[in-house]
Amino acid sequence: MLQNRLEGKVALVTGSAQGIGKETAIILAREGAMVVVSDVNDSLGQSVAKEIGKNAIYIHLDVTQEYDWQHCCAEIIKHYGKLDILVNNAGITGFLEGFGPQDPENASLTSWRQVHAVNSDGVFLGCKYGIKAMKQSGGGSIINISSRSGLVGIPAAAAYAASKAAVRNHTKSVALYCCQQEYHIRCNSVHPAAILTPLWDPMLGNGPDRDEKMEAIAKDIPMKKLGMPADVGNAVLFLASDESKYITGIELTIDGGILAGAAASPTKPEKWRQMLTPSSIEGE
Ligand SMILES: NC(=O)c1ccc[n+]([C@@H]2O[C@H](COP(=O)([O-])OP(=O)(O)OC[C@H]3O[C@@H](n4cnc5c(N)ncnc54)[C@H](O)[C@@H]3O)[C@@H](O)[C@H]2O)c1
Repeated sequence: MLQNRLEGKVALVTGSAQGIGKETAIILAREGAMVVVSDVNDSLGQSVAKEIGKNAIYIHLDVTQEYDWQHCCAEIIKHYGKLDILVNNAGITGFLEGFGPQDPENASLTSWRQVHAVNSDGVFLGCKYGIKAMKQSGGGSIINISSRSGLVGIPAAAAYAASKAAVRNHTKSVALYCCQQEYHIRCNSVHPAAILTPLWDPMLGNGPDRDEKMEAIAKDIPMKKLGMPADVGNAVLFLASDESKYITGIELTIDGGILAGAAASPTKPEKWRQMLTPSSIEGE
């Protein structure tokens, strides 16, 4: 087993108070990085930093706010003197947030913009300030968390899918720009699907049928199981480490084989709709 793969490196993970971000922060710290945990949920974020221990600090960072990025990057340089790894992980679907319907016909312009503000603007700002911080220390690795939804259409979550497609494409612009500028900054996108985190709570609920609902989802996945946050965290670890030093601009799918094939016909919306709790489809 390789060990201390990130010794001496400094990493920032956005949206790391829970789910994939939290697990990623734990994995990067375990491999020797100093990790900055950041989120809008300060109490949960602070407890993650505390759980990690001396290898982590917490900094409040709302990824939609340009000032927060400036402040956070300045604090990191002040505290650690450099930034080597940025994981743009924070993301929302619009369901948990109760933004109303998310299909192309009924989604409101406000909710479209709210989802894009976090998923797309947040990644744009992250890359912008990440590049500025990393080039000072001679390079780094940016990992943008997109989604399977950034590669295919999702009728029930149109803003989410479009915003994740923006992440996929912007990653490639950033990768090529950094090559052109000779910044030695790599930028890659990661495309998870069906990873068991609180993001799924509106669909799974906490009732006695939670396991049944999970089984129904797993049935449609070639590997017949949901992924875990560490499955994404370990892929991020590889892209963050020097083991991937010749890799930039790629998209790495982590989806139990879903994107390896294609469903014969788009018959699922009704089934998925039925699985949503009444609160998550309010206003439809
Ligand atoms: N779980 C999945 O199946 C799955 C699949 C594909 C892609 N993803 C993507 O992975 C990433 C993490 O997802 P997750 O499942 O861990 O979600 P999650 O909801 O469990 O965690 C998301 C975190 O982002 C934070 N956040 C929300 N808005 C923010 C903002 N404006 N600024 C900073 N932080 C903010 C939340 O407070 C939360 O801690 C997201 O980008 C998501 O779209 C997840």
